[in-house]
Amino acid sequence: MWMFLCIIHLPSLSAGARPPSIYIQPDYNVYYKAGETVQMPCVADGEPQPTYTWTRNGIEFNPSAHDDRMVQLPNVGTIVIIRPEERDEGVYQCFADNGYGKSATININLRIAKLDSFPPTVPIIHSPNLGDPLTLDCVLPDSVPSPRYYWAIKNDSHNSVINYDARITLDHEARLRITNVKAEDRQEGRAYVCIALNQDVRKVVSGVPNFIQPRGTVGVLHRVTYMWASPSDHYGLRGDEFKLKCIFSGNPTPDVHWTRTKGGAMPEGVKITSFGQELVFPRLSDSDAGEYECWATNSITPQAARNSISLRVESRPYWTDTGPDDVEVGIGGSATFVCKARGNPEPDTKWFVNGVPFAKVTDPRVTNGRFQFLAHDTVRMANLTFADAIVIQCNVTNKHGYIWGDSYILPVTVTAIG
Ligand SMILES: *[C@@H]1O[C@H](CO)[C@@H](O)[C@H](O)[C@H]1NC(C)=O
Ligand SMILES: *[C@@H]1O[C@H](CO)[C@@H](O)[C@H](O)[C@H]1NC(C)=O
Ligand SMILES: *[C@@H]1O[C@H](CO)[C@@H](O)[C@H](O)[C@H]1NC(C)=O
Repeated sequence: MWMFLCIIHLPSLSAGARPPSIYIQPDYNVYYKAGETVQMPCVADGEPQPTYTWTRNGIEFNPSAHDDRMVQLPNVGTIVIIRPEERDEGVYQCFADNGYGKSATININLRIAKLDSFPPTVPIIHSPNLGDPLTLDCVLPDSVPSPRYYWAIKNDSHNSVINYDARITLDHEARLRITNVKAEDRQEGRAYVCIALNQDVRKVVSGVPNFIQPRGTVGVLHRVTYMWASPSDHYGLRGDEFKLKCIFSGNPTPDVHWTRTKGGAMPEGVKITSFGQELVFPRLSDSDAGEYECWATNSITPQAARNSISLRVESRPYWTDTGPDDVEVGIGGSATFVCKARGNPEPDTKWFVNGVPFAKVTDPRVTNGRFQFLAHDTVRMANLTFADAIVIQCNVTNKHGYIWGDSYILPVTVTAIG
């Protein structure tokens, strides 16, 4: 029987044939500046060499049908857009096919980067008493991707970046926070400006000029008072750098401290920066969840001011080990394909065969009953023949994102031993 199968199907799987496997692809988001070359790499191996196709917003897309603005590099799928325009934005996906299956990339979100200007407004003059707290607002303009921001003192054509310290700091919403105003904050009449910066468009814009004209001759003393803090019910994503911040006003300048009040001792590796005001988790982990308290004092405050922040940790889907593997199985055997992942919230798994969503697959090798789901994360293909080389994809998703598995099943000849 085994010999018989072998002879019948041999021509469909020539020696050394291997389904395609894309091993270079872009990130989930690719940003470009109008008029500046951008590429979306897509490179697969496989035997014979695969040919490549693309879709854009789910519809077949031919890169060479766009005059000379776009090219697909020889022997690979990589698209180079030489003079991209706004209308090139979209969701792209690359496929590699060599007759033994079809490998697929993630959905690539190609977006034009931009940074708007701040709306024009009249300069703002602030006249706080010496020793009072002061907040300078900054509503950031639209930007793709999100801009970086800082505050600077305008010096003719030159801006000098403000050196933050325990007294002058930024909150996490781009506002400048002065915990107590000093005479030097007048900055010789020069303006404070909020500056937004987008590296993808290499553009910098600055906001409305703010002038500080302190009043009085001696600083008024103030007890420590809550000024700004990260939300009291806050969540971060596992693996990301994560920061909690608390700003207290007061004169003299408050000293800020941190304690973990629920969930155990202060995690190892956590750093305190920004002159005590910020707690930084270099890579957030599930065990960092709990409650944290910042508290602050100064010499005239009898009892510390306190603020509590409860931290939850959620996560994008992630593979529990390395993700699905290519499976090579002897003819007549069965191949098990596993797509084990975790996430918080619990992720969903969607399946594809040769790039086609499982519900739409009409391939008889899949619909004839030999292809079975053993669990939400495990499929099996039984009684393999030489003609069963395929590529299986899984999309494990939750509201924070998705991971994409793309591996093949390859039936191989088993050499009898002995
Ligand atoms: C995976 O599923 C998510 C959620 O439905 C979707 O946004 C994403 O585009 C999917 N990715 C692919 C490659 O199908
Ligand atoms: C800002 O201007 C002042 C006087 O106009 C000058 O002394 C100072 O060096 C300038 N600073 C920078 C960083 O350009
Ligand atoms: C595999 O083949 C055996 C023997 O022909 C048959 O009994 C069995 O039902 C098949 N399994 C599947 C899942 O098709």
